[in-house]
Amino acid sequence: MKRIPIILDGDPGHDDAIAWVLANGSPCLDIRGITTVCGNQIIEKTTYNALRICTLLKLEVPVAMGRRKPLISEPIVVPNVHGESGLDGAHLPEPQIRLESEDAVTLLARLLTESEEPVTLVPTGPLTNIAALFLAHPELKPKVARISLMGGGVHHGNWTQAAEFNILVDPEAADVVFSAGVPIIMAGLDVTEKAMIFPEEMEQIRALGNPVALAVAQWLEFFYQFHKQLGYPGAPIHDAVAVAALICPEIMESSAFYVQVETTGDFCRGMTVADFRGKLGKKPNATVLMDIDRQAFVEWLIKTIAAYGEGKA
Ligand code: RIB
Ligand code: CA
Repeated sequence: MKRIPIILDGDPGHDDAIAWVLANGSPCLDIRGITTVCGNQIIEKTTYNALRICTLLKLEVPVAMGRRKPLISEPIVVPNVHGESGLDGAHLPEPQIRLESEDAVTLLARLLTESEEPVTLVPTGPLTNIAALFLAHPELKPKVARISLMGGGVHHGNWTQAAEFNILVDPEAADVVFSAGVPIIMAGLDVTEKAMIFPEEMEQIRALGNPVALAVAQWLEFFYQFHKQLGYPGAPIHDAVAVAALICPEIMESSAFYVQVETTGDFCRGMTVADFRGKLGKKPNATVLMDIDRQAFVEWLIKTIAAYGEGKA
């Protein structure tokens, strides 16, 4: 099977961590590197979490730290969602791999330059690093096969009525990415809120018993506490959908739209605005995921996590 070369970029973050478990456990993906971004927590914490996740997964790839803040706006950290550490709830090993000395943009540029084939970027946090890469190295855009991102939503937001968290944290960066002319798979709230894991499925994962399964169950249990207060029947694993879109696209439904990012406005800053009716006459820039076979998604996740116990990942 020809493996898809990818670079993970995220702000772990419970659902980022589960997305990385899925990516690392998938034989069809070849993780070339990881970059961290300021989002759910400050950059030092998301980076420390990234190193702990890689240690848990025995994932030995270069990891580089991103910027301390969004391109223009101030950070928005969310300890009420992901805890003070940004990844509360699980007992994780201390990092056994070292952080690269180069920063995120330098590592992204190096990995793209060194790759013999275009690489898929999988950002699951604010798009600060990806935008900074395109601004500093526009010549490397042809080495980006596509971007499979978690962010936005064409019908509603979650952090404001109009904006989803990842886009809201850095709308200017999202505008650079959506305007870059690089193919985008957009796993927005329209699909990710349907990628729900229910409590009984969390217990199924815990019962698998291997160290990765136990960590994922603890992450899910913690992540569910925030969503339970909002009336959710389970935990939406937003970021894992951006990875699943590469592994099992057949379980999803999508529509192609021209999507713009609102960077001003009192009510809609950070909104991803889809041109549903083609009013602008522009070619679509995003494959927007709109639906998912939730059962198939959960089965895929459980099967991947079980494989960690058989030493297959
Ligand atoms: O809105 C969901 C997104 O915000 C996810 O990426 C989650 O990790 C948080 O960063
Ligand atoms: Ca995230």
